[in-house]
Amino acid sequence: MSIEVAVIPAAGRGTRMRPASRVVPKALLTVIDRPAIQYAVEEAARAGAKEAVVVVDLDAGHLVAQHFSIEGPLTGLEDIHLRPVVQEEALGLGHAVNEAAHMVGDRPFFCLLSDNIVRPGHDVLAGLAAGSHDGAVSVMCLRELTQEFLSKYGVVVPASDVEDRYLDLAGAVEKPGPANAPSRLGLVGRYLFTPEVFEILGKLEPGHGGEIQLTDAINELGSRGRLRGYVAEEDLLDVGTPIGLLEASVELGEHEFGEEFKSWLRERAG
Ligand code: G1P
Repeated sequence: MSIEVAVIPAAGRGTRMRPASRVVPKALLTVIDRPAIQYAVEEAARAGAKEAVVVVDLDAGHLVAQHFSIEGPLTGLEDIHLRPVVQEEALGLGHAVNEAAHMVGDRPFFCLLSDNIVRPGHDVLAGLAAGSHDGAVSVMCLRELTQEFLSKYGVVVPASDVEDRYLDLAGAVEKPGPANAPSRLGLVGRYLFTPEVFEILGKLEPGHGGEIQLTDAINELGSRGRLRGYVAEEDLLDVGTPIGLLEASVELGEHEFGEEFKSWLRERAG
């Protein structure tokens, strides 16, 4: 089935990207020639989504909306309708996603974190949709994490072996750290949710870091036996930190500018 709607949380103020994100929202920080969030909207459009519900904050949300509308639709995004929704208080990622509930309604939806960009040619949303039993179960995009990322990402509890990239999941823990990690499979910022996640999010208490955590809702979906994982072939690029943004710019630059840029890089590297 095709998934019509994508939710893209973009309300984070980006403490890891200060001072660049003091005025400019993190989602608008540039990777080569476009803001991070544009990559996410383009990816959703490539997967066939017709609506992108972008969750923005009160202070800077209008800038995010303006980016997509100011001179008419961006090339390649003519067929996806951008719908901003304001998160009035920064109460966590789970709270941000729940702010999109009234726009999504009773439909399964993709969720894309714009801190993560897929490598060119390695889209994952179709893989999530294909594993969702026609949008009947939620499917989480996963990657095997190195030790240091076990304290930076949500980590899942496997309930089966991986077969053809898919597995059943029993739950998830937000940033457990190496000592408490239930596996090495981490949530990498691409999700397909059934609308039942909103009912769970609406009742959640604050979790890790005192925030309403999306991972806690994922854990509940797992305990209901309605959660699967899809192990992506390639890592996603993480543009939520200065070094990650630099690495992503270089890697996407190699793709965009080809041999000319690569030979410049080789010269620099000596
Ligand atoms: C968020 C999620 C976390 C996920 C990560 C992926 O964390 O809470 O579960 O693994 O994104 O980038 P954040 O990066 O906002 O700390």
